Amino acid sequence: MERKMEQDLGLDFLRIVEAAAIASAKTMGQGDRKYSDHVAVEAMRQIMDTVPMRGEIVIGEGERDEAPMLYIGEKLGLGYKNDVEDPNNYPEVDIAVDPLEGTNLCATGSSNAIAVMACAERGGLLHAPDLYMQKLIVGPSSKGAVDIDAPVKDNLKAIARRLNRDIDDLVVIVLERPRHKKLIADIRAAGARIKLITDGDLSAGISAAVAGSGVHAVMGTGGAPEGVLTAAAMKCLNGQILARFVLKDQLEDLEDRKKIPEDAVERMRAMGITDPKRIYDTDDLAPGKSIVFAATGVTDGTILKGVRFFGAGVRTSSIIMSTAKTKSVRFVDTVHIEGGPDTVVRF
Ligand code: FBP
Repeated sequence: MERKMEQDLGLDFLRIVEAAAIASAKTMGQGDRKYSDHVAVEAMRQIMDTVPMRGEIVIGEGERDEAPMLYIGEKLGLGYKNDVEDPNNYPEVDIAVDPLEGTNLCATGSSNAIAVMACAERGGLLHAPDLYMQKLIVGPSSKGAVDIDAPVKDNLKAIARRLNRDIDDLVVIVLERPRHKKLIADIRAAGARIKLITDGDLSAGISAAVAGSGVHAVMGTGGAPEGVLTAAAMKCLNGQILARFVLKDQLEDLEDRKKIPEDAVERMRAMGITDPKRIYDTDDLAPGKSIVFAATGVTDGTILKGVRFFGAGVRTSSIIMSTAKTKSVRFVDTVHIEGGPDTVVRF
């Protein structure tokens, strides 16, 4: 199954994220984040159904009644078609998607919007409700050196030590939100540099795990689905994410509080999460042995270039990674030719 998933489905997964990125990139800067997301979802959904798998969405666009496509529990792929001869020929996979991570970033033409999906064998990705999660994300060098309960300064010291540098050489990415006032003050007081982002803590997490990106950690509270996807990426990149769900009483900011539903704990229970205060490590969020993670840049970003339209075609920049026996991280530059026989492909 492992071999099948990585070798046979890798290219299909790439096609899926590329299609979502191209569709949403066409709407870049139009100021309509919902529409940008919608076209990414549609494109992703369309290709997913042509993939030789029996896929089930475990992290998606929401519950069935609120999301017409890519809803949690939706079954996708050729193996679920009525006319299929032997469904057992198609691997069963759990799928996490974020067709457009950073809807605002795409709508405003800002950097680091990406189209993302991850897959694992059944049970290989945590079924997480769409709530907030506090996250601490670091790259391979700092793996095992940080503690989500430790003071910010201690974590920064530990990261700096592992990276053989001073705290003031570090760059920490934080979502610019009122809830992070104290966190930002603590990072500043410790002396590290900060990159405040308006959205997109998933692509920020990937950057933290890629040496040379100039990002050394991501701290703060963002979406739980993004947390699971980050964990899938960390498994492939040897990074680490520590995380825990955040409930209303842990947030001071009223606007943030409003975003947490009254029935948050029940929603967790319904997904099998019995301890709302549990601290999750990378392997708890993405326990799968056979994980494939794929992302394509929508707008230009730290790791991936955005989609470029050149008249006779489209060029995309993607990352596709796997934890299978032959662990691999591929940076894929694809030219999708739409023009005639005279189309010129540039280096
Ligand atoms: P969308 O792609 O759904 O717009 O999410 C973007 C994002 O910035 C995530 O990267 C982050 O985890 C989450 O939103 C933060 O949520 P909030 O905007 O409610 O603080």
